[in-house]
Amino acid sequence: MKKENISIIILAAGKGSRMQSSKAKVLHTISGKPMLYHIIKESRKISDDVTVVVAHQKEAVREAMQNYFTDIHFAIQDAQKFPGTGGALKNVSPKNEKVLVLNGDMPLITAESLQGFLEIDADIIMSIFDLHDPNGYGRVIIKEGHVEYIVEQKDANDAELNTTTVNAGVYAFSKDIICKYIPRLSNDNAQKEYYLTDVISMAKEDGMSIIPLLVDEEHFKGVNSKKDLAVAEEIMQDRIRTKWMNAGVTMQLPSTIYIEDGVVFEGECIVENGCRITGESKIINSHIKAGSVIEESVIKNSDCGPMAHVRPLCYIEDSHIGNFVEVKKSILKGVKAGHLSYLGDAEIDEGTNIGAGTITCNYDGIKKYKTYIGKNVFIGSDSQLIAPLTIKDDVMVAAGTTVTSQEIKSGNLVLSRTKIRFVKDFYYKFFKKK
Ligand code: UD1
Ligand code: CA
Repeated sequence: MKKENISIIILAAGKGSRMQSSKAKVLHTISGKPMLYHIIKESRKISDDVTVVVAHQKEAVREAMQNYFTDIHFAIQDAQKFPGTGGALKNVSPKNEKVLVLNGDMPLITAESLQGFLEIDADIIMSIFDLHDPNGYGRVIIKEGHVEYIVEQKDANDAELNTTTVNAGVYAFSKDIICKYIPRLSNDNAQKEYYLTDVISMAKEDGMSIIPLLVDEEHFKGVNSKKDLAVAEEIMQDRIRTKWMNAGVTMQLPSTIYIEDGVVFEGECIVENGCRITGESKIINSHIKAGSVIEESVIKNSDCGPMAHVRPLCYIEDSHIGNFVEVKKSILKGVKAGHLSYLGDAEIDEGTNIGAGTITCNYDGIKKYKTYIGKNVFIGSDSQLIAPLTIKDDVMVAAGTTVTSQEIKSGNLVLSRTKIRFVKDFYYKFFKKK
């Protein structure tokens, strides 16, 4: 079916009280992006007409999505007057004959997993799955192969509760079905809500064709709680890691590695156990060693870690970043920083060695300042570089120096040390030994 013949409506207006959070449920993130983002991204692949229904925190939800998508529509649910998933559809008029309705809390759906809804011709296609533990889902009552009705957990009797066939929360309706039955919904139920699921029994009574489509939990899992969010995250992470391993990235103990949706790898990369790579980071021909965190940065032809922390907006090329080195908003090209350093707001050029324990003192409590270090500079261990500071090419900073001058010229040795003293037998007197 063509993209221009399908309308998709995503229900994202609910509070999500089971999340125990002040943030709207659909804005909770999976692999670094809001749940709703993942659903819209996949929906756009199969439809040109995507509408998101908002109400609770509508401005926050709308703004968050407009950061990513410019070509989607929003509809506002009158959630006071018409609460519930059926209420959410009262203010929506789809453009096309075929209308796919998706819950906004199903971050694992993919365009491929929705294909079945586009291929079958029926008044209603609804998604079902069989669960060992159906807790939280609406139960689907099927008799002699025909769907009779859906009953929500809070309204179900004991026999209904024992049903393990549940409503996954995706529906394909013909436009007529929406126009005919949404206005007729009532809120005569345990939650005093207008349930979209009641459309099924009404359409069934009128002899409409209702096809149950068996789907898998791996794509259609609903996220209602923080536990569900964590389970969905694991599934999404497995997908992301598999995608990159298939593209040639070597991962050691992949289940311990967290990689966000926007991260890109190129060339030959190795990621060791326990790494976290976030944002729109780009890793090119690099080795990220155990326990390192890379945030929103580019790492090219380099190695980082173990236990390095590369914070946002770094560009690191042809460099060696060793253990316990933190780098922030810095450009490093051809640099060695092997141990225990903080390099922030710095630009450091080729052939420069940063000794263990070097700190760029980039913040005076009010403002941040930059540090420029040229080519082939040797910074001795345990040095403090007080920014703003420019160190030209070919400079040597002696170990333990606090560099306070704003500019160091090429060829210089910089050294700040107090004269060493010896106090004879002080130790023995102090500890009263001997
Ligand atoms: C819903 C279904 C249930 C199904 C489950 C699948 C109903 C009545 N129940 O239950 O049968 O098993 O999904 O995951 O449909 N929303 C609105 N406006 C509202 C209320 C909710 O837009 O007034 C949105 C929410 O933001 C959410 C989606 O609809 O994205 C589903 O709402 P939720 O409260 O999570 O429904 P469930 O109880 O999970
Ligand atoms: Ca839900």
